[in-house]
Amino acid sequence: MNKISIQNFSLQYSDGTESLRNISLEIPANQITVLFGPAGGGKSSLLRVLNRLNDLADVTHQEGKVLLDGEDILSLKTDVIALRRKVGMVFARPVVLPFSIRENLTYGLEVAGEKDSDRINGSVENSLQQAALWDEVKDRLDDPAIALSGGQQQRLCLARVLALEPEVILLDEPTSGLDPISTGKVEESLQGLKQDYTIILVPHSVQQAARTADLAAFLLQGELVEVASGDTMFTNPRDQRTQDYVQGRFG
Ligand SMILES: Nc1ncnc2c1ncn2[C@@H]1O[C@H](COP(=O)(O)OP(=O)(O)OP(=O)(O)O)[C@@H](O)[C@H]1O
Ligand SMILES: [Mg+2]
Repeated sequence: MNKISIQNFSLQYSDGTESLRNISLEIPANQITVLFGPAGGGKSSLLRVLNRLNDLADVTHQEGKVLLDGEDILSLKTDVIALRRKVGMVFARPVVLPFSIRENLTYGLEVAGEKDSDRINGSVENSLQQAALWDEVKDRLDDPAIALSGGQQQRLCLARVLALEPEVILLDEPTSGLDPISTGKVEESLQGLKQDYTIILVPHSVQQAARTADLAAFLLQGELVEVASGDTMFTNPRDQRTQDYVQGRFG
């Protein structure tokens, strides 16, 4: 069974925009699934549906199903707090808390009720290792997080999500503000993470999509035009519109 199953999902906002139209997509565990396409295609909307962050938006119509491990996450019975712990999210701009590096990682755990200090300390190192940041910060965990570079802050945000031990990680253009070296580090850490997590990434460029995608889904104006393995999508796409986009003819 796939980790996430999106079935005939449609979404319309109050301004009348039909942002997603009858989307069906199976998202496997332990792979990087990339949602890519031009601006306004519905990538962020679809990502936000997966952890119910879109509950906060002005949605007028929604239909279809989204299953996580076979359970309908759109159900009224879903515990949204628990869902968001299971489905963590990293945004385009790193938002670090005005605390130390260490406290950025322990805060969420403490809020979630974790009291065992060995577990908390273990989680600090573990999550920083996984986010490929440990070596750079291990000697200054009590420094303010705000003193880190943008790329380091973004990896800290990823570590903060990891500290809560999610199963799925959503990333919405996580490297859009980063230089190529920091971008490379984030991509490298994602490659390591896929053994343990289901990763869904909205990349900031077609090149990044091609570098990272195990599975790629092309979204154009709310329509899911094509789904294929990364290898096929960026060398031999089926649909003319996908071809035009990946070859840089529009968007
Ligand atoms: N909260 C909202 N309220 C109303 N309309 C919205 C909202 N969020 C998105 N939309 C509309 O839904 C459509 C899809 O937007 P979305 O942000 O999901 O696209 P995107 O593919 O992530 O674009 P980008 O590449 O620019 O980030 C757009 O027409 C947008 O104006
Ligand atoms: Mg977006």
